Amino acid sequence: MDKMHIIVTGANGQVGKELRDLADGIGDAEFTFLSREDLPIENFELVRTVLQFRKPDVVINCAAYTAVDNAESFRDLAFLINGEAVGVMAAVCSELGSRFIHISTDYVFDGTSHIPYRETDPTSPVNTYGASKLEGEEQALRFNSDSIILRTSWVYSAYGKNFVKTMVKLMGERKELNVVDDQFGSPTYAADLANALYRIARSKHAPGGIYHFSNGGVISWYQFAQTIAQIIAADCVVHPVPSSSYPTPARRPAYSVMNTDRIREVFGLEIHPWRKSLEKCIKKISTSA
Ligand SMILES: NC(=O)c1ccc[n+]([C@@H]2O[C@H](COP(=O)([O-])OP(=O)(O)OC[C@H]3O[C@@H](n4cnc5c(N)ncnc54)[C@H](OP(=O)(O)O)[C@@H]3O)[C@@H](O)[C@H]2O)c1
Repeated sequence: MDKMHIIVTGANGQVGKELRDLADGIGDAEFTFLSREDLPIENFELVRTVLQFRKPDVVINCAAYTAVDNAESFRDLAFLINGEAVGVMAAVCSELGSRFIHISTDYVFDGTSHIPYRETDPTSPVNTYGASKLEGEEQALRFNSDSIILRTSWVYSAYGKNFVKTMVKLMGERKELNVVDDQFGSPTYAADLANALYRIARSKHAPGGIYHFSNGGVISWYQFAQTIAQIIAADCVVHPVPSSSYPTPARRPAYSVMNTDRIREVFGLEIHPWRKSLEKCIKKISTSA
């Protein structure tokens, strides 16, 4: 039997790089990794040409405009990359009979809930990035109802820029740090997300639609930072502060925890507790430093 062919876009981001690591150990699928330089997804003609030429079984879109604060000033660009380009990829996949898997965000919710959000709960983004990602979800499902939208939250890895790497660095340089204690969510290790994406890619007959994925547990950024300090035995005191002491151009939801029952039931995925995954990532950071 022919190997399944998976194209990954935005392949130099956190999730793309974790998919590369995962692909190294997989023999029954062929991956093509396309960075932003290889395939800028706002070049619709090129997207169409590449996909028509390669005819993949699956496209995993890891490309996104992820600068949450900058999106407030570059709204059109955020909507082009996170919205329109996603719709184009989904449509081309539909024409070719390729499965389209797309990553979205907890920031489609406004954070006023106190119980984990389900896939069917109303969305109401509080910032431009969240609104642009919601546009991408809607376009993907409008042009290709078989698309799988995987919403995730607080992603970190040994690659790229993220909260964990920033904390590890700052904790090596400073004696004290202030971290916000009034935003709650569930961290997601990009390696676990990559595993989930691969499992989904292999499940040809699973229903399209929206699924939630994160590691298990609910914490604030302050609790996350404190745990990082514990794991690396940092000589640094972490202080809890309110978000109001760190004004940012984009508002963030105060609570963006997602219910992951659906993905567990449909794909039989195990959700790892956030602390175990954090430990794995810190080990990877320390061995690659
Ligand atoms: N990070 C989080 O906390 C978080 C939370 C929830 C959901 N998500 C979603 O998870 C997905 C993956 O995020 P991530 O953390 O891996 O982000 P990331 O590290 O910023 O990776 C995104 C990648 O997309 C590439 N890219 C940007 N514009 C592009 C374009 N026009 N064409 C092609 N590629 C382009 C970037 O290229 P450059 O390297 O050249 O910039 C980067 O390599 C995204 O859909 C994001 O919205 C992330």
